[in-house]
Amino acid sequence: GLPPRIRIHEVGPRDGLQNEKAVVPVEVKAEFVRRLARAGLTTIEATSFVSPEWVPQLADAAELMPMLADVPARLPVLVPNERGLDRALALGVREIAVFASATESFAKANLNRTVDESLAMFAPVVAKARAADVRVRGYLSMCFGDPWEGAVPVAQVVRVCRALKDMGCQELSLGDTIGVATPGHVMELLSALDGSGIRTGELAVHFHDTYGQALANTLAALQHGVTTVDASAGGLGGCPYAKSATGNLATEDLVWMLHGLGIETGVDLGRLTATSEWMAVHLGRPSPSRTVRALSGI
Ligand code: HMG
Ligand code: MG
Repeated sequence: GLPPRIRIHEVGPRDGLQNEKAVVPVEVKAEFVRRLARAGLTTIEATSFVSPEWVPQLADAAELMPMLADVPARLPVLVPNERGLDRALALGVREIAVFASATESFAKANLNRTVDESLAMFAPVVAKARAADVRVRGYLSMCFGDPWEGAVPVAQVVRVCRALKDMGCQELSLGDTIGVATPGHVMELLSALDGSGIRTGELAVHFHDTYGQALANTLAALQHGVTTVDASAGGLGGCPYAKSATGNLATEDLVWMLHGLGIETGVDLGRLTATSEWMAVHLGRPSPSRTVRALSGI
């Protein structure tokens, strides 16, 4: 059967805004996070402590975090290296995510490292974070296909998942960075992970909706027992270093499906949709989410 409750890991402020051409003012980012929390989201990925040359859209991370001190939600941030971790710890961050790749091409494009070099970069970050009692998520990108390499063997994905778990990541988020996965592939990967000593409860799924498969893929993951799902308010998102990556699964589309299935999320869909409409005004274009469009009568 399906789980009675799902935790949504909201990535709009990070995955969404990292991909916008225009840099969103820091006050608008802070208000976005506050509105998401008021809509009932309990985990909101706020920003990234990466190189400001690589992702100028999130270069204001150190300004943003103090503005969020009173937000009643978990506020994880992306951290690629010790430099990023030190910046985040200095601001009192309690939860981070490192982000690996299942493929060499994307490791190079996104981290300027091979897969193994990037794992070697993350290992001391994870150890230091855990020693400071900071929660650590490990993302794994290109789990279902890569724009340069095409198909990605399941065994290659399982290998990097194991490496992330062994270095101390407490949750693994399986990324379909370019949105090419279909439900059978999701079931195949989750079954392979079952046999590798990684518990389903430690997994999250992170689908981009490029080919319109994100909801179907999510349902396949729920049927397998996954209870943490990443989504982005209004369907914002994409990765600037991945050719052909479009928006994430829209949080509104996810909530519509989950509530229809009788699965609790704690999210107030009206408030969430209003937040995405408000953000769309700031970004100067309508949300791509079908649910946002339907509920706001666009
Ligand atoms: P590099 O150029 O190899 O690094 O980049 P470096 O160590 O040589 O540093 C270069 C410069 O950046 C130096 O400055 C560093 O100080 C500075 P300089 O001394 O030359 O003036 N620097 C930093 N500054 C601030 N904070 C830092 C930091 N690190 C270095 N943390 C690096 C390597 C990893 C830094 C770079 O490749 C990088 O920042 N990559 C991040 C790319 C990124 O954020 N991508 C998007 C997130 S991943 C994603 O979206 C996928 C996901 O959603 C899941 C999915 O969909 O699959 C998570
Ligand atoms: Mg992503």
